[in-house]
Amino acid sequence: MSKKINSLEDLRKLRAEKEKLTSPREGDNIQVIVGMGTCGIAAGARDAMLALLDEINKKNLKVNVTQTGCIGMCEKEPLIDVIVPGKSRITYGNVTADVAKNIVSQHLANGQIVQQNVVGKIEE
Ligand code: FES
Repeated sequence: MSKKINSLEDLRKLRAEKEKLTSPREGDNIQVIVGMGTCGIAAGARDAMLALLDEINKKNLKVNVTQTGCIGMCEKEPLIDVIVPGKSRITYGNVTADVAKNIVSQHLANGQIVQQNVVGKIEE
């Protein structure tokens, strides 16, 4: 049942409660974008995606994982982009399930870029 609002103070309290429910906002989270174009899938992007989700769950990290189509470097598939708010956007290539797990434990959990799989970097 919803509470009745009788004063400005009631309204402020309600707003504070709702803000708690909706934070952290999506924009504050790390984002991972997985290239799921046909050649990405053929190269194993589904395995990379499943390994990513599994490891993110195990580590209980707040990460938004989405998928996109062709990223544009077929020979480096599977490709994923990692966007940490306030940092450079990193594109990783040849992301096998093991590499995906490594990216989660090093980059997403500890902020350390997995250099051997970096194929692109866009400065913030
Ligand atoms: S689908 Fe991979 S580069 Fe186009």
